[in-house]
Amino acid sequence: MIKIGILGAGRVGEAFLKGLKPLHEEGKIFVAASHRRLERREELGRKYSLKIFSSNDELVQSSDIVVITLKPDQFRSLAESMKRKALFKDKTVISVMAGITLNELYEKGGIERAFRIMPTLGVINQNGLMAMCASSLIQPQDWMDVESILSALGDVVRLEEDKFAAFTALGGSGPAYVALLMESLVDSGVTIGLSRSISKKIVEHLFESLVGLVEIYEHPVHLKEAVMSPNGTTAQGLLYLESTGVKGNIIQAVIKAYQRAREME
Ligand SMILES: NC(=O)c1ccc[n+]([C@@H]2O[C@H](COP(=O)([O-])OP(=O)(O)OC[C@H]3O[C@@H](n4cnc5c(N)ncnc54)[C@H](OP(=O)(O)O)[C@@H]3O)[C@@H](O)[C@H]2O)c1
Repeated sequence: MIKIGILGAGRVGEAFLKGLKPLHEEGKIFVAASHRRLERREELGRKYSLKIFSSNDELVQSSDIVVITLKPDQFRSLAESMKRKALFKDKTVISVMAGITLNELYEKGGIERAFRIMPTLGVINQNGLMAMCASSLIQPQDWMDVESILSALGDVVRLEEDKFAAFTALGGSGPAYVALLMESLVDSGVTIGLSRSISKKIVEHLFESLVGLVEIYEHPVHLKEAVMSPNGTTAQGLLYLESTGVKGNIIQAVIKAYQRAREME
């Protein structure tokens, strides 16, 4: 049975624990984690009934696959001693750390067999999208094993490492852009006289139904055209939005996020 260790179970690490626990309970994999603080170890132990190590070294030694969910600087301060002890020799590592490249995993931590993934926030309710690339030592069977395990947290897409900053700018930051749009629409409903609760209900319905509607109309443009009738309300609303340059502004916002993601690499 594959043994998986989550190293540094904070927010993202806990999402992994939560998503992988059903596979652990079905006896398909064995899952454990580590954390540096006693109260956090007790909390995770209570919530998930899984083994939580105080020693990262012991966690790594007892795992086949180590998921590193530390912050990048936390990893950098641990990596040298882990490299000296050759802890990651023969281990497969999955790193979720933003901006840490496969090359840095190797140089700083001596990690040769590595997957780098960038998860979207949706992994916290097992509805994420994860971009994934791997070092050259990773074999087709490793890809299949890891993709199958990660499918417990959402969908996986294989992506070249030099596209990770773009994935971060769109998929990683995306929930914040959409949340801002949602907030603006709820406020607009209140502005034209709806109660906040009704306005929120309408907006939540819009977002919930949108993916299904885009599938039916096959493209967002076709959906827009279906709602836009001659001399109608939608045409007036869209005319105003287009005159403010909304599409260009959204593209510029994602370019700004992309530039920042590149700076952080
Ligand atoms: N949050 C996101 O939406 C997101 C999305 C994509 C990728 N990521 C990446 O995911 C990683 C984790 O992010 P996060 O938001 O989950 O951060 P986080 O909540 O701070 O998780 C890191 C955890 O590691 C613990 N830790 C620190 N040093 C340790 C050590 N030496 N031994 C054991 N545990 C240790 C920290 O403990 P303390 O609580 O004591 O500090 C903390 O609980 C980051 O590298 C980030 O780039 C995050």
